[in-house]
Amino acid sequence: MNPENYSIVMRGVGSATPETRLTNAELTARVETSDEWITTRTGIKERRIAGDSLQLSEIAAEAGRKALANAGMQPEEIDMIIVATLSPETLCPSTACLVQSRLGLRQVPAYDINVACSGWLYGLDIARSMMLVNPTYRNVLVIGAEKLSSFTDWQDRQTCILFGDAAGATVLSRIDEPGYGVLGCDLGADGNNASLIHIPAGGSGKPATAETVAAREHFLRMNGKEVFKVAVKAMSQAAQSILEKNGATADDLVCIIPHQANIRIIEALSARLEISMDRFFVNIQKYGNTSAASIPLGLDEARIERNFKRGDLILLVAFGAGLTWAASVVRWY
Ligand code: UT7
Repeated sequence: MNPENYSIVMRGVGSATPETRLTNAELTARVETSDEWITTRTGIKERRIAGDSLQLSEIAAEAGRKALANAGMQPEEIDMIIVATLSPETLCPSTACLVQSRLGLRQVPAYDINVACSGWLYGLDIARSMMLVNPTYRNVLVIGAEKLSSFTDWQDRQTCILFGDAAGATVLSRIDEPGYGVLGCDLGADGNNASLIHIPAGGSGKPATAETVAAREHFLRMNGKEVFKVAVKAMSQAAQSILEKNGATADDLVCIIPHQANIRIIEALSARLEISMDRFFVNIQKYGNTSAASIPLGLDEARIERNFKRGDLILLVAFGAGLTWAASVVRWY
């Protein structure tokens, strides 16, 4: 098949968030912080928390169900499922297999990818690349889902104020009309900076022991200041690169959906790209940083709030642990 004859479009988008809200005021009872500090330093007012009884695969499946409904499709029409997550329900098997079962998909390929906050965009590019060369994959479900509350150290004020739980999903479909949907992706990684955001224990390198648990090494640790600097640089470079590759400029963009890590990162990106803040979609105040779920959750809300129309050009851009980054331009179908 000739890839140039086809488009990979977002036929359905959906998202799901746990009902329980954790406000900044409630956090002040757990760590020494204030609503004023969190709001001014991050832009976050509250985040959603799944709690013990709500599993990651349930949140992910709910987002997937909504994306299928939005696409007007049945589960048996899906040819592959990819779940991007850094907080899998179990290390084995993959969360994608659990979601496949919950949604009643056929016995199609199902797998997780772990690219932290850039994960859903990596999934988008993997799916798109496979769909353009292999006729088997006509409709692919790409989900970004996180239960970060399980990996958050609720005694560490530098990180516990940031993260939340959520899922976002997209049904990608191949159509024989070129020029729409995911026009391209630009992905990158820098493993030399792996230690800037990491979970020290619980993997094969440092398996769980009573000592690692006592030392709180199963929680996410981050050098926020350093990450901040690299995030702005990497996201603006990825955004510029993908625009150039597609012969587009900032003026062509109707909306930019950036990874929601910190409002100040988004403002810095806006300044670097010389695109006014009103074209950036922001929902960080409601959900905090939901890592791999951040972009598809933003996409689901933005397409409704901003009333996306056929032909609108949208930029998606993310940054996360690895370190990793990714950007994509989408012509709405
Ligand atoms: O998803 C992608 C990965 N993550 C990110 O992109 C996050 C990137 N980094 C950030 O968003 C910011 O660096 C943070 C929000 C994590 C921190 O903001 P900051 O402006 O870089 O603060 P800082 O770490 O430089 O800390 C400034 C001060 C420190 O006090 P001193 O040393 O100046 O006395 C901190 O101890 O603020 C203190 N501080 C807090 N105060 C109240 C740190 N956390 C808190 C807190 N409440 N929660």
